Amino acid sequence: MFITFEGMDGSGKTTQAKLTVQFLKSCGYDVLYTREPGGTTISDQIRAILLDNMENTHMHARTELLLFCASRAQLVAEVIIPHLEAGGVVVCDRYIDSTFAYQGYGHGLNLNALKSVVQFATGGLLPDVTIFLDIDPETALNRRAAGTLFGEAWNRLDDMAMEFHQRVYKGYRELLLASPARFQAVDANGTVEQVQKRIQALLAEWLEIPKGGAA
Ligand code: TYD
Repeated sequence: MFITFEGMDGSGKTTQAKLTVQFLKSCGYDVLYTREPGGTTISDQIRAILLDNMENTHMHARTELLLFCASRAQLVAEVIIPHLEAGGVVVCDRYIDSTFAYQGYGHGLNLNALKSVVQFATGGLLPDVTIFLDIDPETALNRRAAGTLFGEAWNRLDDMAMEFHQRVYKGYRELLLASPARFQAVDANGTVEQVQKRIQALLAEWLEIPKGGAA
């Protein structure tokens, strides 16, 4: 079972992905948590190049795309596939849909070209379920800005204009419509607990979860 989390920066995606991992572990699953970009020694080095907002402000969108996909190729081969083949559950914080939303809809790169690169990098590995934490872009960005006051890193991609984030959000909505069986929207408004309950209810459609939640 391969579960991915998607959403705007500030949607609460990382918090919810980690809580979901705890929940599934408490249900008895062998769960591996990872995130993109990053997740292996090589991928973490690529992450540092991608998110550096001091040095790499002039990065071309195509360079950005290839670096995200290079990081992903290593993560899939080194971490995700071996865990899935061993019968475990993988929870990944961002995956291919981030590339379509940010580099495709956000930066306007050709979506068909992007599909080929993504397919090549992943060998065609698709998630079984993708949870989209749905929140409007302005609320997400405000949450993100508040988060940095408490020590969260502000990265190069956060510096992009509001119009960019609007395009990314619109992209996610189109991706949702294009893959309704895999892509599931969860309302990300409300408390952390409320959102987590919505995710757990949704996952019960895919995984065996004891009645009333974990033991
Ligand atoms: P990250 O620190 O993971 O942000 P967050 O935890 O808030 O999601 O930074 C990831 C950034 O990279 C985020 O702005 C989205 C972007 N991104 C892409 O543009 N394309 C991709 O393929 C991926 C995986 C991420």
